[in-house]
Amino acid sequence: CGIIGYVGAQPALEVVLSGLRRLEYRGYDSAGVAVVGAGVLRTERRAGRLANLEKVLDEGSDAMPGTTGMGHTRWATHGGPTDVNAHPHTDCTGMVAVIHNGIIENFAELRAELENSGHELTSETDTEVVAHLLEIEIARSRAASGETASTASTASTGSTAGTATTAAAAVAAAAAGTAGGSGAAGGAAGAGPHPLTEALRAVCRRLQGAFTLVVLHQDHPEVVVGARRNSPLVVGLGAGEAFLASDVSAFIAHTREALEIGQDQVVEARRDGVTVYDFAGTPIEGRRYHVDWDASAAEKGGFPYFMLKEISEQPDALADTLRGRLSPEGSIVLDEERLSDQDFRDIDKVFIVACGTAYHAGLIAKYAIEHWTRLPCEVEMASEFRYRDPVLDRSTLVVAISQSGETLDTLMAVKHAREQKARVLAICNTNGSTIPRESDAVLYTRCGPEVGVAATKTFLGQVAACLLVGLFLAQTRGVLYGDEVAAYVDRLQRMPELVRRTLGTVEPVRELARSLAGAKAVLFLGRHVGYPVALEGALKLKELAYMHAEGFPAGELKHGPIALIEPGLPVVVVVPSPRGRANLHGKMVSNIQEVRARGARTIVIAEEGDTAVEPYADHLIRVPATSSLLAPLVTTLPLQVFACELALARGLDVDQPRNLAKSVTVE
Ligand code: G6P
Repeated sequence: CGIIGYVGAQPALEVVLSGLRRLEYRGYDSAGVAVVGAGVLRTERRAGRLANLEKVLDEGSDAMPGTTGMGHTRWATHGGPTDVNAHPHTDCTGMVAVIHNGIIENFAELRAELENSGHELTSETDTEVVAHLLEIEIARSRAASGETASTASTASTGSTAGTATTAAAAVAAAAAGTAGGSGAAGGAAGAGPHPLTEALRAVCRRLQGAFTLVVLHQDHPEVVVGARRNSPLVVGLGAGEAFLASDVSAFIAHTREALEIGQDQVVEARRDGVTVYDFAGTPIEGRRYHVDWDASAAEKGGFPYFMLKEISEQPDALADTLRGRLSPEGSIVLDEERLSDQDFRDIDKVFIVACGTAYHAGLIAKYAIEHWTRLPCEVEMASEFRYRDPVLDRSTLVVAISQSGETLDTLMAVKHAREQKARVLAICNTNGSTIPRESDAVLYTRCGPEVGVAATKTFLGQVAACLLVGLFLAQTRGVLYGDEVAAYVDRLQRMPELVRRTLGTVEPVRELARSLAGAKAVLFLGRHVGYPVALEGALKLKELAYMHAEGFPAGELKHGPIALIEPGLPVVVVVPSPRGRANLHGKMVSNIQEVRARGARTIVIAEEGDTAVEPYADHLIRVPATSSLLAPLVTTLPLQVFACELALARGLDVDQPRNLAKSVTVE
């Protein structure tokens, strides 16, 4: 889910909606907003895309006046994507509003407790319990301080359209609010945590699972309060304004100054600064950082879809990932490491954990790491890793690959690995995200923001980063000679240009994809590193075109999948270099003939100059010659274009495919 909270001087609704537009890639089942202004908390929420919500809102600030607000775009977990289940959720009094990302694992128990004590919950979500727990906590602290509760106490959350407007005679709580706390990021010095902060902190201590929460209170327009555990939350620090968001893209148009929020921390944002506490109430000094890209990087720049823009950005994304890491003398420099050379020499085994496309980058890495370092390397889907009790110790290197740095399956694998004393190296594209912070070291892929839900440029960045790690390990451990490393450094230097060349020749792939818009299924075959490329080609087609697509090792074909071949079935074959080892090329040429003999329509991706495939290719897609282990950096490109174009030919939205989200922060 995507989350944004705002407190400042601008009309909150506009700030929140523009933030949600940038966050929609994180989930688009439903959307909602809440604004506090003129003593009233107003919420509005709608099932479906953000556009549905925008339709019912007056974009001006008249309908929802106020300069404090928040918004949510949802990827449904508990309860279907309906108006009632959309966030924000409110309590019985309608004075507290909550938005949430994650899963509250003990919500059933909490819900039963609340219902037994007379609370009426209207949605099927786990989130709603938080609003009611906050209501109880606020009432408790008011009673303790002798303050009277606001007169507004009737619930107005029942409307299915999700409008909750409570006219309230607001209790003046300004004294508590404006004082603020001592600022980790420059807030006013003052009287300790705000009552809403204290209430949220108390509630968080009762919650199990993963959550980012942002809350508003009708009586407290001076603050927006957030909290996080195992789910992303970052603060934007503006002049006289502050933002709480799932990622920096939500506020990048307003400020590039950000503050990291750690695990189990609560953040209180006011106009004059923010204050961070841990769940025990101790003030925390957050880490400030400057975001090194601007709003234009998160816009489409003339392309109709982010995905098309991001595919075209790959030469630069790859160059940026490699920049500064290939020395002119021909060695690998990874100086942002927090692991020492000795740590790398002590390693006797490598595990790679990742999900989705990042997992495919990991599969490619296995070939390179084992070949170059002679260390055993296992690749595992992060969601499976910790449940099978893998054998890990201090001499195990776990490489966690994640574009977002927030994928909860991968984060949990990282935590498990560290508990078992393994050293964890993250490969990540998002500065300040959770996985790098929970790891021993990080290698950033520097691809810039990726908005299209299906990963493209970050996949290339991940593959390149994995190759750097493999070469670095081999270099540090003395397994490869200096001139061997130098030869790879030279080849890697040339890759951005080869990527550019390949992208310049993909027009026939587009035409082919359009001609296959009516196909029912597509098979992808590969060998060696071409096998993970085949898996990635199939995944892209599933994600974008909703087609049945499978990737197989070509050698495995005869052991079962060949039964799927029927006349006309498109089969994409990623052919290894004819200069490669073990006559893999010759074996692949035989595999192409086998499927063609059974009527398949063969789409062959082969190196320039490979003439042996020509007689058997119904469609031939050429890629520049590279060394085998680097080939995925070019062979993947036509498959991305193929899936994207085929989906567009089917009239689908390639940036926001159904049921998916870019960053999945639930297990
Ligand atoms: C989601 C996305 C995939 C992505 C995977 C891993 O499932 O839909 O496209 O590959 O997460 O994401 P990460 O951010 O960890 O690389």
